[in-house]
Amino acid sequence: MSHVEHIPVMVREVFEGLHIRKNGTYWDGTFGRGGHSEKLLSLLSDSGALFASDRDAAALAAASRFEVDSRFTFFHSSLVEALALVPEDLDGFLWDLGVSTPQLKDSARGFSFAESGPLDMRMDQRQSVKAADLVNGLNERELADLIYQYGEERFSRRIARAIIEKRRQAPIETTEELEDICFKAYPFKKKHRIHPATRTFQAFRIAVNGELDQLEKALPLALNKLRPGGRGVVMSFHSLEDRIVKHTFRQFDRNGTHRVITKKPLRPSEEELVQNPASRSTKLRVIEACQL
Ligand SMILES: C[S@@+](CC[C@H](N)C(=O)[O-])C[C@H]1O[C@@H](n2cnc3c(N)ncnc32)[C@H](O)[C@@H]1O
Repeated sequence: MSHVEHIPVMVREVFEGLHIRKNGTYWDGTFGRGGHSEKLLSLLSDSGALFASDRDAAALAAASRFEVDSRFTFFHSSLVEALALVPEDLDGFLWDLGVSTPQLKDSARGFSFAESGPLDMRMDQRQSVKAADLVNGLNERELADLIYQYGEERFSRRIARAIIEKRRQAPIETTEELEDICFKAYPFKKKHRIHPATRTFQAFRIAVNGELDQLEKALPLALNKLRPGGRGVVMSFHSLEDRIVKHTFRQFDRNGTHRVITKKPLRPSEEELVQNPASRSTKLRVIEACQL
């Protein structure tokens, strides 16, 4: 396991958004290493409660430091699974989507092309399908569609073709191999703002973890768990996630049951961007359940 720390992002904006009631009941659905949960617990009285969940076993291990706190309960579960375990009438929930820095930096997890490791990418290690299964198992059309749909990668067809060609020699097993395939498949290498493997890695990660399905299924259910005046804060890290959050919030606002607090997503301050460049693509949205 890696010993890299995760710096919690947009902490001031998260807690301004959550409007913590000190005796309230909250849910942190993406516990990670517990940075936001720790702050949340510090704002609750003895009568408050924090339910936290994450599907990564490393988060479960990190949560053990709060074991002695009777206000804290942890579930090793996905957002969708946790919905059956978290109580109704929440005063607020926080979802800080995506992957944590320790997950990214742990080469054995295979999330990053900057780290050499197996093509795994599972957030939940109990799950059987890994990125290598998709990279080596899908046909060319399926690969191109996946890379285009979840990576918004305009060279998806070239990359899919290159994967198939490489696979003919031997299965693709490592992050380095996939990175090399993307790099070589890309035209005009020097002109690109981001690394040629960025979008393809994002696409396989989203597919392996069913990230968009999770969000689409869980978000409406979580919004219905808020008690009147309760707040939902969601931070997303790419446009596909943010689109789902924006549309779901807008739909609940139109129905009149909830009110969108952030007409436009909040972004990290200049100061935070300097201190924590990993926060750069964060978009934070806040919604409140109406007093009926
Ligand atoms: C950016 S990190 C959260 C960091 C955390 N706020 C902190 O301060 O340490 C995102 C976490 O959410 C988890 N995660 C992402 N999507 C999830 C889902 N659908 N269900 C459960 N956990 C999820 C990941 O495993 C990861 O640990």
